[in-house]
Amino acid sequence: MADMLYVDGGNPLHGEITVRGAKNFVSKAMVAALLGEGPSELRNVPKIRDVQVVSELLELHGVHVRYCPEAGVVELDPCNVRTPMVADVDTLAGASRIPILFCGPLLHRLGEAFIPDLGGCAIGGRPIDFHLEILRQFGAEVDKAEGGIRLSAPEPLRGTKIALPYPSVGATEQLLLTAVRAEGITELSNAAIEPEIADLINVLQKMGAIISVDTDRVIRIEGVQRLVGYTHTALPDRIEAASWASAALATGGDVYVRGARQADMTTFLNTFRKVGGEFVIDDHGISFFHPGADLHSIHLETDVHPGFMTDWQQPLVVALTQATGLSIVHETVYEKRFGFVSALESMGATIQLYRECLGGHACRFGQRNFYHSAVIFGPTPLSAADIVVPDLRGGFSHLIAALAAKGQSAVRGISLIDRGYERFTDKLAALGAQFSRETS
Ligand code: EPZ
Repeated sequence: MADMLYVDGGNPLHGEITVRGAKNFVSKAMVAALLGEGPSELRNVPKIRDVQVVSELLELHGVHVRYCPEAGVVELDPCNVRTPMVADVDTLAGASRIPILFCGPLLHRLGEAFIPDLGGCAIGGRPIDFHLEILRQFGAEVDKAEGGIRLSAPEPLRGTKIALPYPSVGATEQLLLTAVRAEGITELSNAAIEPEIADLINVLQKMGAIISVDTDRVIRIEGVQRLVGYTHTALPDRIEAASWASAALATGGDVYVRGARQADMTTFLNTFRKVGGEFVIDDHGISFFHPGADLHSIHLETDVHPGFMTDWQQPLVVALTQATGLSIVHETVYEKRFGFVSALESMGATIQLYRECLGGHACRFGQRNFYHSAVIFGPTPLSAADIVVPDLRGGFSHLIAALAAKGQSAVRGISLIDRGYERFTDKLAALGAQFSRETS
């Protein structure tokens, strides 16, 4: 498929699109199916590259996967789970970060696992030290091997007490997927409590797990001996919903996002309103629009839930280039999430990056030389440019900038966006965007 879009920007987006299940939940729920003794069925599954990668990895491990993209249903039958050839698993090296979550389920099912080197967006170092420490604490042996890591469980995994140094989403999921079948009780403090994690807990509870979420980020799991399959409808993708909302604001348009859910987006909605965007919520979705008046500059810090998500930051920054005054954005989750702004500058935006924490509190990156704060001066008209997609969310931001900019932009590397935004070119067309995909 051609990997470049020519976008004729400067026109407001108008219309309606639908978001389906959350990318950052669906892949994890698919991994959870490995733990069941019978088949599982996941609904509201979007057609994105991450679903394909996880399906392939599950199939290599003997799971029978049947995916119907139109209905958005994936059926997973883990009755013949087996150890695949390392060379086969290796073909998926670098494709995604999800394989690290196979560790616990495979250790329970097979007593061993080989996890290929991980992929994912280049937005920071993205270490897996928390994951490996968790697995070791359950009693797993973890060794670095060529092209990945090799794990084994000489004894059945045992429940444990762990405090995370930072409320990592992936590490919390790692712990949940391992603790549900470990012997005894596991207690995790400083856990991540994102809505996608809450929905993974819903899935695990349907499977037979006993999990309680206490106050102050403490999660307690009582291990059980067997889990069954589940049927579940994935929560909607709040990152995709916010991305289209930001596109509506940056282009001066209005977009009805069918499927967007207020409860998962409260912090985004507050911020959207402070910037000057307006929205109307109904039972089926949220309509986001630019009211026509000037947008306002804001101060924003990204944070773990219930804070402002790091994944909402990049699309919103494009809209902030159109707000009056100086906006300050302090990124506290990833140390290198401003790589995308150089393209915006080439389009006319005025953005200065700082190593200092320009926010209410000092974060982990303050003294470590990372350019993790941005000051955005606006409004600046954007003009067309030739730009290259750097990562998933940064890429969508480039697309928004191209849609907002006058003239024809060339956006290269757009297949990266397919990783997390289902049929985004169909949705652009539905919103009246003027573009063509390079055919060579
Ligand atoms: C998940 O990544 C999401 N990815 C990310 O979405 C999202 O930005 C992130 O959570 C935060 O919400 C998926 O769900 C597939 P973390 P994850 O562990 O789990 C540090 C997108 O565009 N850390 O919460 O990998 C880490 O470096 C993606 O959809 C360690 O230091 O994120 C980061 O600074 C991008 N050691 C912080 O914790 C570890 O072992 C948060 O990462 C693990 C994490």
